[in-house]
Formats: sequence, C-alpha cells, structure tokens
Amino acid sequence: MTGSNGSRLRPFRLVSKTRESDTITSFVFQPLDESGWQDFEAGQFLTLQVPTQDGASVVRTYTVSSSPRLTGTYRISVKREQAPSADVPSGLCSNWLHDALEPGMVVQAAPPRGGFVLDRTSARPVLLISGGVGITPMMPMFDLLARESDRPVWFIHACENEAVEAFRSEVAALAALRPDLHRHTCYRVPKADPASLTLPRHSSGLLSRATLQALLPLDDYEVYLCGPPPFMQALYALLLSLGVRKERIAYEFFGPASLTLSEETVERAAATTVAGADQPATGVPEGAISVRLGRSGRDLEWTGSSPSLLSFLEEHGIEPAFSCRAAICGTCEQGLIAGDVAYHEEPLDPLAEGRVLLCCSRPVSSIVLDL
Ligand SMILES: Cc1cc2nc3c(=O)[nH]c(=O)nc-3n(C[C@H](O)[C@H](O)[C@H](O)COP(=O)(O)OP(=O)(O)OC[C@H]3O[C@@H](n4cnc5c(N)ncnc54)[C@H](O)[C@@H]3O)c2cc1C
Ligand code: FES
Repeated sequence: MTGSNGSRLRPFRLVSKTRESDTITSFVFQPLDESGWQDFEAGQFLTLQVPTQDGASVVRTYTVSSSPRLTGTYRISVKREQAPSADVPSGLCSNWLHDALEPGMVVQAAPPRGGFVLDRTSARPVLLISGGVGITPMMPMFDLLARESDRPVWFIHACENEAVEAFRSEVAALAALRPDLHRHTCYRVPKADPASLTLPRHSSGLLSRATLQALLPLDDYEVYLCGPPPFMQALYALLLSLGVRKERIAYEFFGPASLTLSEETVERAAATTVAGADQPATGVPEGAISVRLGRSGRDLEWTGSSPSLLSFLEEHGIEPAFSCRAAICGTCEQGLIAGDVAYHEEPLDPLAEGRVLLCCSRPVSSIVLDL
C-alpha cells in the first residue's frame, strides 16, 4: 500500500464535523487521491497523523464508524480525552481533532486496517456489546447486519449518562429495520429517574448478569466486545459465566489491552482475540523459541499464542512504547540483538540491521531484544 514517496500516509480532507454527544465528535474524511480510498471491513481503523504544539506530530488510530456500504468517505468518531489531573496534558490527538481541525483542512492518514472485523460468513445471532466510545466499531457492524443479513442482533451499549451517549437516533433507526434487531442502553448514572429506565430498552447502574439474562434468549451467540478495560474485563468474565464459548467472543481494546487483564483472563482470552488478520502462529514446540530481554537478562518462552511480540511482552507485564499497532508509526521499534523475526505486516520503511518493530512481528528463532 505504499505510494510513490514510500509512505502509507495519504492526504485526507475533512468534509464534515458533527457533535454526537458531550464528549464524542464525528469527523468525515475524503481521501484526496484515488490511492487513499480502500474498501474496508466493519471494525477496521484509520491511522491519523496530526501536528502537536511543539511542531512534531503524533499518530493515533480511530475505528471507522461509518458503514463499508458508503464508499468514498470514512467517518471516525472521537472521544475528547481529558487530562486525569491538572499536572498532565490532555489527550494530544483527540483534543486537536475536536478543537483545531475544521472542514476543508487536510491531515495525513492511512487507509483502514485491523483484524477486529465482523464475520459476515456466519449465520449465528450476534451480540454487539460496547462501553463508551467502544461503540464505534459496532456502528458499521450493526449497519451491515441490519441491512444485509437476517441474523438476530442485540445492540447493547453502556455509558455514563444520556449526555455522553453517541448515535442514539442512528442506532434506533437501524433497530427499526427488522423485528429481530434489539437495542438496550445501560446508563451508569442516568440523568433521568432510574425508575423510568426499564427493560428491555434501558437499565441503570452497571450492566449486570441479571440484565443480560433477562434480555437474551438462550442461543449460540457470536459476540463483539469493545470498551474501556475494566468494562471489557467484567463483560468477558460475565459472558463466559453465562455459557458463551470463548471462541465466540471477539474483542478490541483501544489501548494496551492485556496490561489491565489478570494473567488468567489474558491466558483464556489470548487465543480468541479477534478473527482476521493477526492470527497467532500456534504449535511451537515447548522451549523451542525463547525471547531474552538483554538488559534485564529475563528469559520468556514464546508459545506462539500471541499475535505479535508487542502483545507477548504486554502479557508478561512489560510495557514497550507503541502507538498505531499497525506497522506505521515506528513507536514500537526496538533493538534486536540476536535472532530472526517474521513480519505479518510489512514495516512502512525498511528497518536498519539489528532493529525490530514489535507490533507487527513474531520470532522465528530464539531472539534477544535490547530491552
Ligand atoms: C485499534 C484502536 C481503535 C481506536 N478507536 C478509537 C475510536 O474509534 N474513538 C476514540 O475516541 N478512540 C479510539 N482509539 C483510541 C485513540 O487511538 C487514542 O488512543 C485516544 O484518542 C487518545 O489519544 P490522545 O492523543 O488524545 O491522548 P494521549 O495524548 O495519548 O493521552 C491519553 C491520556 O493520557 C493522559 N496523559 C497524558 N500525559 C500523561 C501523563 N504524563 N500521566 C498520566 N496521564 C497522561 C491524557 O490526558 C489522556 O487522557 C482507538 C485505539 C485503538 C488502538
Ligand atoms: S506501534 Fe506503530 S509501528 Fe508499531
């Protein structure tokens, strides 16, 4: 996908900017040249590069919230990330998008990619479960399911209150297309009287086992899950406890996923991360491949179950820097002191001898990292 200048980034013009809620704004982009447009799958993300105040730039990924049916433009929907305390800056990219980017302006972006995608070949009933801005991948998935399948769908969304809820009318319009499309919103601290929020449309507090049991008939569901880490952790455990098979649960984190999951949960989840691109290699004989951290002397065993070296290190409590997780930004580059890796996503630029991108590679021999 590289262009004549070798870059995967392309100029994209902002066509429109729409406030979806108190915290979420949508941005519709149109690639300026043909090579910027690429058909995509529901659930994939765009990679944006935006300027920072010091004259540098940051790269961030945002899920396409428009339907793949609508060709020519991509919509992303971004939550403004506030600073958690007065002594740290607020989110660089999200605030720049909200405050500085206006229709007509051009940013550099890479067309959609990512392995968290709707399995359109399946006929199973679907649960789309999201928390907060994790609603973004569910929008194109719900659109396709509602318009181009006859599968029963439950669109279940949890958010803080009515003021931060995005896409309420869009979800309602899709749900109205067929009788077996259902929607439910759970407000953690609703602005309305909680007594007025009743099943099946609403609930309040935390999304509970009792609520899911009341909403969902017993069935062999396929689940797509996206939201903040504590929400994901709770829902994943809850779904397993309700008898949903782990191989039926696909999920996406908007950050360093496994750091916030217990080891046991990660282990159970690792094999089921997502359908699609980054499928882990399996079947590595025990002890055959080791990953040595040169600086600490720590030895880890590569079992083949992790989608990338970056995920593998995160699962072991190590936190290498990353940004795009998509072989574009170079943030996850590290020294490779010994051994060989294979790339499942080719790096944007060829790497110097002795360097490796962690987010898009796996070891093919025992390796030593400069970490
Ligand atoms: C696959 C994927 C898809 C995604 N899709 C979406 C999407 O559809 N919509 C969406 O809104 N987001 C999405 N994200 C998240 C998005 O990529 C960004 O991570 C998010 O917008 C925050 O970026 P930022 O530059 O605004 O914040 P950053 O600058 O990265 O900061 C993040 C947070 O850290 C805080 N912070 C900064 N410095 C410090 C410090 N020193 N100490 C403590 N805290 C600090 C900031 O205040 C902010 O709250 C997705 C992420 C991934 C990986
Ligand atoms: S995190 Fe961007 S290239 Fe790896």
